[in-house]
Amino acid sequence: MEQAHPLYDEIGTDYATARRADPRIARAIRVALGDVVSVVNVGAGSGSYEPVDLDVTAVEPSTEMIRQRPLGAAPCVQAWAEALPFEDGSFDAAMAVLTVHHWSDRAAGLRELRRVARRRVVLVTWDPASIDAFWMVTEYLPEIAELDLPRFPALVELEEALPSARVTPIPIPRDCEDGFLGAFWGRPEAYLDPHVRRGISVFRQLPAEITAPALERLEADLRAGVWDARHAALRGTVELDLGYRLVAAELG
Ligand SMILES: C[S@@+](CC[C@H](N)C(=O)[O-])C[C@H]1O[C@@H](n2cnc3c(N)ncnc32)[C@H](O)[C@@H]1O
Repeated sequence: MEQAHPLYDEIGTDYATARRADPRIARAIRVALGDVVSVVNVGAGSGSYEPVDLDVTAVEPSTEMIRQRPLGAAPCVQAWAEALPFEDGSFDAAMAVLTVHHWSDRAAGLRELRRVARRRVVLVTWDPASIDAFWMVTEYLPEIAELDLPRFPALVELEEALPSARVTPIPIPRDCEDGFLGAFWGRPEAYLDPHVRRGISVFRQLPAEITAPALERLEADLRAGVWDARHAALRGTVELDLGYRLVAAELG
């Protein structure tokens, strides 16, 4: 595979300004990693969720994403999940956050995580069975489902690849500090901000002919109070399960 990422080199610009670790999600990942010392973070992007108290090696194929890693971030190797350039059992743990849906050969990538980790694999992903949980998809942009359903793995696929895996929900706080698709479920106005949308891959991948009219409709609904009438409860909800999942597997 070539040493650059055609999709993320294009859509990853501005990633680090729109996306950062949410401390509550970071805590859940850190707890799942447990008592390890070394960890490889695969599909590391600009470094969100890399625990600062661990010996982290990042793996990221996109030159553009590597460019956005802050000064002092963990060392980064430009490589792909499907062919990790490390000996068997090189790390205590492997982690991969919101990336497995981008891998071209997921089975190979998951095998590689198991191969290079001695003790534990921790993933954050989204469960396609939760497609109806988010109003943006059901009411405004059903095209997100066409993009996301085929690319996100069913949980059963991950459980087969990582036989001891335990899956737990990651509820998304209403003031989530990260900027992924579901992060603004309780702050719908945020999706009208182009800067917010630049950090969300579906908004960079779906054509403007599709997203623009949907966003105009959202804006009109917000102005007319239609969104609030439909989702009154959400304005007071503290956290919501939109299908984001932590998958943690102990290796034998
Ligand atoms: C949504 S970003 C997540 C980045 C980071 N983990 C985070 O949580 O902010 C997805 C990342 O996966 C990377 N990626 C895509 N395909 C990959 C592959 N085959 N192997 C490793 N990383 C890949 C992209 O370049 C991108 O940096």
